[in-house]
Amino acid sequence: MGEEKIIRAALLGIGTVGSGVYCLAEQLQEDIREKTGARLVIEKILVRDKTKKRDGVPQDLLTDDWNEIIGDDRISVIVELMGGIEPALTYVQEALRAGRQVVTANKDLLAEHGAELFEAAQEGRCDLQFEAAVAGAIPIIRPLRQSLAASRLTEVMGIVNGTTNYILTRMSEEGMEYRDALELAGRLGYAEADPSADVEGYDAGRKLAIMASIAFNSRVTFSQVYTEGITKITAEDIQYAKEFGYVVKLIGMTRLTEDGIEVKVHPMLLPDKHPLSSVRDSFNAVFVHGTACDDAMFMGRGAGKMPTASAVLGDVIDVMRNILHGSCGKIGCGCYKNLPVKRVEETQSRFFLRIQVNDKPGALANIAGVLGNNDVSIAQVVQKHSHNGIAQLVIITGPVAERHFNDAICILRGMSVIREVSGIIRVYG
Ligand code: NAP
Ligand code: HSE
Repeated sequence: MGEEKIIRAALLGIGTVGSGVYCLAEQLQEDIREKTGARLVIEKILVRDKTKKRDGVPQDLLTDDWNEIIGDDRISVIVELMGGIEPALTYVQEALRAGRQVVTANKDLLAEHGAELFEAAQEGRCDLQFEAAVAGAIPIIRPLRQSLAASRLTEVMGIVNGTTNYILTRMSEEGMEYRDALELAGRLGYAEADPSADVEGYDAGRKLAIMASIAFNSRVTFSQVYTEGITKITAEDIQYAKEFGYVVKLIGMTRLTEDGIEVKVHPMLLPDKHPLSSVRDSFNAVFVHGTACDDAMFMGRGAGKMPTASAVLGDVIDVMRNILHGSCGKIGCGCYKNLPVKRVEETQSRFFLRIQVNDKPGALANIAGVLGNNDVSIAQVVQKHSHNGIAQLVIITGPVAERHFNDAICILRGMSVIREVSGIIRVYG
């Protein structure tokens, strides 16, 4: 029998995801050895506070000194699970330039600094793997970069934030208050360290930037993604949506059009028969459309300790195989095009809106006139009720350029007959 091969790794961070990775790596020691031909040893773990006790983790593995890790040539795999931009960016760049393989779950880093990171990976001829950065346990990065490389992809759409999907599910199915559902999502380990990244749509926006860059081979950064979160969605909106046969979901969508890439994240009314409507709790799902592959859908747990750890350790196992076969760094950046990214005003949507209006003859005709003059066609209109001389109109529009819709809303808000325009949510289709 030959000498046992050992591959040494360091974890940067042992919070929700890091502790899951450590635990899974311990549990799967034998399988990892069989699958790769080498033993995985977690040599060091970087933390902020090395005196803090961490269940099941030997204290002597903890360090608060990055130099102890980057200075140790025996460590060939760096697994970044700290989150945020700095110091993660500096550490990952240093690791790649020093020829270390990197696995990360950090979408903030990739969505804002993907180009520099891939440059560093190319310089060091290293792997930079990030399956867990998008949609937790769901394999979507590898399918986009590898399995679907022979299809010209034109659309990626889905639910890619577990926290908001969990909150919307609890609000819709149990009538839970937004705040209570958010707190529960935090306790379950779904939410980011700063949960506004989840509820404002930034987390989903970062994931969309990453997927759009890979799908269309053209760099899209987070700042180019239009984001609108769920903080303004009310129980009333959800109830109205139900009455009209819709479910409210936070949807991310990116499309390749003739004049550029569209990429946006916002709440959307989905028909309750749409496959994404049945994606509940912390589950995520991603639809991909391409010329040769046609439609493909991926679904699974989008957040949480063990699902995310599964994606991270899967990447580590792949990196171990690459090390042993001398094939690290074989998939580079992939952004060989330079396509424009469209502003949201240039894209088209359908809208749902509620208008409180003085219940007087001619009011509806005036509203219809303003919408019509701005190219907004009405697909459906219902007067819900009239109380104290105020009527509630619910309107669903046809597809319209967002800038025309915004112009119409501006005019409506200035009309004396209108008390309030609220509950504006985009509609699927
Ligand atoms: P977390 O629970 O907040 O854990 C962060 C860990 O990183 C902690 O151990 C912390 O050390 C350490 N850390 C943070 N800043 C550090 C610094 N400057 N120096 C040294 N150590 C530092 O975060 P998480 O939920 O595990 O998320 C980690 C990453 O995975 C993020 O990029 C997140 O977006 C991504 N992600 C999370 C999920 C999920 O479901 N949670 C899913 C997919 C991807 P201390 O313990 O000493 O504070
Ligand atoms: N906070 C993220 C979510 C974690 O809720 O989806 C997974 O990226």
